[in-house]
Amino acid sequence: MLLSLRVNGRHRRVEVRPETPLLWVLRDVLGLRGTKLGCGAGQCGACTVQIAGVAHRSCVTAVSEVGEREVTTIEGLGGDGLHPCQRAWLDEDVAQCGYCQPGMLMEAAALLRDRPHPTDAEIDRALGGHLCRCGTYQRIRRAVHRAAGGGGGAP
Ligand code: FES
Ligand code: FES
Repeated sequence: MLLSLRVNGRHRRVEVRPETPLLWVLRDVLGLRGTKLGCGAGQCGACTVQIAGVAHRSCVTAVSEVGEREVTTIEGLGGDGLHPCQRAWLDEDVAQCGYCQPGMLMEAAALLRDRPHPTDAEIDRALGGHLCRCGTYQRIRRAVHRAAGGGGGAP
């Protein structure tokens, strides 16, 4: 089936089965490999992208569900530069192995869009469902506060 998508500001046409997970289309058809496969079952958050600014787990989102809505991946998050979350992530030296981080960043950016100054509890609620084997949660929390304009926040 020929589908039209809008991804990171570009119109893309893809020939795939409608039930194909968006994650496979992004990685294997469009070559956007910043979005990661973890569990493949909606449990870990590694595959998180934004659809119309809302965080979605692309491994359990059929490409045909996307419709006209804009898909944003980690490659498009900052436009031509770095998103405030990406700058804060660098300033707080968040990443270790980095595998979970694209999904974390997409979720954090979606959170800040809805809640420009989130509390610790709101950050934990949004990002707690993302698994990080390297245990970067405390630095992520500080980075979200920094991206929100509040410095690094309480340790
Ligand atoms: S790979 Fe999608 S939630 Fe784990
Ligand atoms: S930085 Fe390694 S899994 Fe999160």
